[in-house]
Amino acid sequence: MSLKFIHITDSHVGETADTLLHFYASGRALSAALAHIARHDRHGAAFIAHTGDMICTSSRPESYEGARAIYGLEGDAPAPGPLVARAHGLDLPWYYIPGNADDRDACRARIFPRGPRHGLFNYSWEVAGIRFLSLDWGAWKTDVYTLEPSAFAWLERQLQHSVPTIILTHHPPVHVGVEMFDRMTPEDLPRLQNLIRDSSVAAIFHGHTHYPWETRIGRVPVFGTGSITYRLSYDEGPPHLKLFPPQYRVVTVKDDGSVSTEVWEAELPA
Ligand SMILES: [Fe+2]
Repeated sequence: MSLKFIHITDSHVGETADTLLHFYASGRALSAALAHIARHDRHGAAFIAHTGDMICTSSRPESYEGARAIYGLEGDAPAPGPLVARAHGLDLPWYYIPGNADDRDACRARIFPRGPRHGLFNYSWEVAGIRFLSLDWGAWKTDVYTLEPSAFAWLERQLQHSVPTIILTHHPPVHVGVEMFDRMTPEDLPRLQNLIRDSSVAAIFHGHTHYPWETRIGRVPVFGTGSITYRLSYDEGPPHLKLFPPQYRVVTVKDDGSVSTEVWEAELPA
């Protein structure tokens, strides 16, 4: 039986659903996306995976309360979940993999208080015979990112066990072809890509760019999903904000281990 899940990323919400960030209510955008998923009967998905930057910035940890309320999160599982997202009647298991806007300790304290209080979110779990790995690069409070040696070693150990695997991560493990991002990408990326290229990884899903991307590491497909919040222009000239409908991706992992995806967009919040 095939497995479906929903990839959400980069909501950057504030302390409440109505908190404005650059005159934009990111919380309402997240709520609109969740309502959209509910209206489509959850797309038949088994869970939601949110790959980081759930809150506006690591210096405003109260925003985790905003995110918790918008999702309607319940449950007391340790990181990375599953908690249950009950907003709009979803009742969907929910996993979280942090990004560069997340303070790991604050995220643990406010979203996963029953689990360990410190440490990166490098975890392995299984759903319907598929192994999911949350790869936490260890970068926050900074735009420049690098893969912490402990995270690399952890992934290397995991991939020695050759079973069908999906990697969920915030930072793209590839150059995306946009100078602003590629300048911040670690120089030793080929080391990570070589690890993934000949492994049992069926697909990788990332956030961070706020734009959707699709590429490959060898035969392994890599999908970036667009943000829930606004995006930055990558055009010439000074950066400016661009409004796009909040986006999410529905992923199907088929019986033969191949992966197909569909991008959906909710309406912009009023
Ligand atoms: Fe982000």
